[in-house]
Order: sequence, then structure tokens, then C-alpha cells
Amino acid sequence: MSPTDPTPWPRPLAEMIQRLDSLQPGSPREVGAATGSVPTAHYTDPAHWQREQDAVFGQWPIVAAHSAELQPGSALPFDALGVPIVLTRGSDGQARAFYNVCRHRGMALVACAGPEPAQAVPCKALVCPYHGWTYELDGRLRHRLHAETFDGIDPSKLNLVELPCDEAAGLVFIRRTPGPAFSARGALHGLGDHLDALGLAGMKVFRKVDQVHAANWKLTADAFLEGYHIRVLHRDTIYPFFADAYTVNWRGGPHLDSLVARRAAFEPHETPHDRAALCRLSTPTQFLFPNTFLIWHPDYVSLIGMTSPSPGTVRWVHTMLIPPDRAGPDWAPHWEKTFRLIEQTVFQKEDIATAVATQRGFGSGANTVLHTGLLEHELLRFHENIDAAIAGTLQPAANP
Ligand code: FES
Ligand SMILES: [Fe+2]
Repeated sequence: MSPTDPTPWPRPLAEMIQRLDSLQPGSPREVGAATGSVPTAHYTDPAHWQREQDAVFGQWPIVAAHSAELQPGSALPFDALGVPIVLTRGSDGQARAFYNVCRHRGMALVACAGPEPAQAVPCKALVCPYHGWTYELDGRLRHRLHAETFDGIDPSKLNLVELPCDEAAGLVFIRRTPGPAFSARGALHGLGDHLDALGLAGMKVFRKVDQVHAANWKLTADAFLEGYHIRVLHRDTIYPFFADAYTVNWRGGPHLDSLVARRAAFEPHETPHDRAALCRLSTPTQFLFPNTFLIWHPDYVSLIGMTSPSPGTVRWVHTMLIPPDRAGPDWAPHWEKTFRLIEQTVFQKEDIATAVATQRGFGSGANTVLHTGLLEHELLRFHENIDAAIAGTLQPAANP
């Protein structure tokens, strides 16, 4: 987009920017219609957790990777949803997903054992490390060692079990349960246009963290759904850059796009016509229901997926995405330092540590509900949407 283009943004984002632009000292904050509460049992109850697993993580399209993680001719294991999955991209460029399970006797085809975060491995085919059965990157069984000893087993029934998978705006989505295809663009409910305008697909991966912390996954999500806490929890780290709880929100289906206002939005400025200018005035943040966040820091992006190994734990996968024109080796020390500040200090020592302390407090029984104020309305809506997804009244976008 060029600085002279009067309409570089898709309309909902352009309207959000107008609202950001009109902020002045003393402007009213955007708030919800009512206060609310969330039962603490929703963070602790194994039966509730199982319902989330079945209705939410088992049925909704989930972001499994940034597109740049999966180059043509590679395979990337993904096991954050509790079943082993492998993503592939063949020479046709299409992203696909399969159970990472050999059709012979069930061995994992691509190793997915930590402690390091999973990375794509370049490959022309998937070769099982147990007896060498070999599959094309589109899942078809290509070769069995001593195939003649498997008389009577139809090889066409031994292709990998495929999972619905689609890609849009630089994100690879999968569904954990086999079934009909979905459209990633449709699943984004208009946020795909925002991500395109911000340039997500062109970003490069710099670093990835994959850790389990002792807090229910919704507690870490809660921390990214309101700006009310920035002034206190992040007082010494990022609050010096942010206005106090000024956020412009737009809802696309169950998702949320936000511009979290920085102090610069209250100082004289021109209307932002490109990403850098917008990120000086605000931190654009997208929440992709149910479990993924994109946070546009001044010069890089955090892609964060939160999954749920157990009621009391969150698996936190944070991928740092950097602009392609700053991906050279000279930039590495800058990104290392930046990543340490955001991941180890702001996220781990502040947001995640708070979630862990809150989870520990549930054991006291001091609260049976957590209260939400008018500035926490999007957090409340997230919980209402989880409840609706469990009840079946909120469904993923229709299939293509
Ligand atoms: S289990 Fe994969 S080849 Fe035997
Ligand atoms: Fe925070």
C-alpha cells in the first residue's frame, strides 16, 4: 500500500482506525453493556474440560502454523491438540494434514518429541522409521518393504488418514477430527482481509517457544482479551507506551480485531496509511476463536496458540514473526533481545505468571465466580462463545 492511497485498509479496519484517530484525552472508553461473571469451575472442572475438548478443540478449525513454517517439500509435526498430526506441503504447494500415524502398525512418521519446538523437516516423502512404509506428501501409500508379504490387504485402503486443512492470510488451519472440508477464508469471518492488509502472509519465522504452564488455557486467553490490566500488571514494562485501557474493537463472527491504543494515539499524528504508522499508534491484536492470538508489536508479530493438555495446564506456543526485509543475520541480535523482553519478561513473568497464580488460588475455594467489569466485555464474550460452542448454538463457519 502506498502512503498516498486514501483507502489502503479494508472497510472494518478503516472504520476502526477512524475511531482510533478520533481519540483525545478524556474520550470515553469503549465498554460493554453489562458486568458479568465466569464460574471458576470452568477453569477447573474435568467434565467441563472434556466438553471443551470435544466441542471446541475437536470441531473448530485451529491455527496449526504460519504458512512460512511449511515450505514446499516439507513436513511439520503438530501435536498440541492431543493427537499426533503432521502437516505437509508437496510440490503442488498445497498444505495438507494427516494423523501422524503409520497405517502398518501405527508408528509416528515424523518425530514430535520435545523439548525443542517442532520444526518442519524437508522431505520428498514420509518414510516410517519402523519398517519403512513410505507415503507421498499427499498421503498416498507409495511403497511397502516386502509388499508381497501383505497379500490380501488392499493397499489403496492404507493411505494416511487425512484431516481437514486449509490456508488463508498466512495461516494454516486444521481440524482435529476427520470430516468435510472447511474454508479457512470463511472461518476467518472477514479478519482475513485485515491480516492481508497488514501483510501477515509475507512474514518470516524467527523463533518459536513451546511450553506447558500450570494454568487453564482460558486464563492465558483472558489476559489478552482486555487492556484493563496493562496499567498495573505491566507498569514497568509496556505500560509506558500504552494509553490506559483504550481499545477499539471489531467483531468478525466469534473473532475479535482490536486496536489497543498507545500513548502516541493521543499525540498529534497523521492518519496511518501503512502498518508501521498504525503500529506506532496502536497494537493491532486479533483473537481467532477459539485459541489463537496475533499481536502486532511495533516491528514484529507474535502468533500465539493456547491449547489444553489438561484442565490445569496450558500449552503455550509463541511464534515470533518478523518482516522479510529484516530477516538477515545482522538483525538477529535485535530480534533475540526483543524476543527475550516480550516472551520471557512480559508474557512469562507477567501474563502467564498471573494465570498460574490465579489457577493456584482456585484451590482455596475463595471464589466461585470471577467478576468482569465493563472494560472486560470481550473476555466475557469469549466465555459466552465457549459455552455456546459446547451447547452447539455456536458453530464453525459453514463448509465451502
Ligand atoms: S509401523 Fe510404520 S512401517 Fe511398520
Ligand atoms: Fe498482558
